[in-house]
Amino acid sequence: MTPDSTMKVKAIEWQAGTLLLLDQRLLPHQEVWVKCNRVEEVVAGIRDMVVRGAPAIGIAAAYGVALAARTRFAADPDNWKADVEVDLQLLEASRPTAVNLSWAIKQMRRQIQGFQQGRDPFRLLAEFAARIHQADIEANKVMGQLGAKILAEHQEQGREVMTHCNAGALATGGYGTALGVIRAAWEQKLIDRVHVNETRPWWQGSRLTAWELQQEGIPATLHVDSAAAHQMKTSPISWVIVGADRITAEGDVANKIGTYQLAIQALHHGAGLMVVAPTSTLDMDLDYGEDIQIEERAADEVLYAAGQRIGADVEVANPVFDVTPADLVDYLVTEKGVIHRPDKAKLQKLMSHKSMH
Ligand code: MRU
Repeated sequence: MTPDSTMKVKAIEWQAGTLLLLDQRLLPHQEVWVKCNRVEEVVAGIRDMVVRGAPAIGIAAAYGVALAARTRFAADPDNWKADVEVDLQLLEASRPTAVNLSWAIKQMRRQIQGFQQGRDPFRLLAEFAARIHQADIEANKVMGQLGAKILAEHQEQGREVMTHCNAGALATGGYGTALGVIRAAWEQKLIDRVHVNETRPWWQGSRLTAWELQQEGIPATLHVDSAAAHQMKTSPISWVIVGADRITAEGDVANKIGTYQLAIQALHHGAGLMVVAPTSTLDMDLDYGEDIQIEERAADEVLYAAGQRIGADVEVANPVFDVTPADLVDYLVTEKGVIHRPDKAKLQKLMSHKSMH
């Protein structure tokens, strides 16, 4: 069974050898679970945004590896280890920017390498995927407390925060990264309101984050993306709190398109930028944000809204992530500890510690 079954909102369930993904494209109006018994279904679920959010993509992929191994072992018990590599590569290519995906596959591959050919790997791989899932929830809870502590230390700055995209329970194993900090801060009575960018073109803010906040009873104000600077100017917003899809060794942060402009706006308005991400989002093999592959999605996502053609017939750019340079990040919160103004030396030190909190 899926870990921590007491949580209110979750996007991923593992039940009796089947992966269940909550179809996030249909939220908040319909709650439909998509059943995956084969790796191809997991690949499609990630590519087509049934499941999204960097840690959630990684967890889904980990379960996907277990499903792939089941199929490959049944087909050829003596060669499954070589055969399953094709599936691992398919999974890895399903979305390019979130490094949690390749991180999770790397963990699963390491397990596979330790198995004997001819022995059924399914149960142990499914258990290992569940461990990755559980560890993500625990990391989020730790980060929630660490981030809330920073807010407590800066109470004079104002009691409202802004978030972008969805870095909540839906985007992770549960609880959330940025939204985990917001949950913890709300429980500790440190904030009064959350300003939510709607996050075009997929509306992760209006459909997912606003929904999660509503379920928790946390006051939320939803605005169009282009209202963000105005909201910062006219409301007591002290922090912009976001998740990340990939963070380089120098501390550059890839996150949902629009994060970069929010970072610039926050600096101008005296609000802090807090990036909340587990260490599975750190890519120490890349130094700079320029080296991160930014996913470019279909033009129709921009040209259409709710199935209705909106845009004129021109060329479309649809980069779905951008890179915020490290020098605009005030705090990076990970489960291993907090970094003020991240840089390479601080990140390397963090990664060399087992735990810093
Ligand atoms: O395209 P998405 O919805 O997968 O993008 C998600 C984000 O950008 C999140 O902010 C990021 O993955 C962090 S989720 C904890």
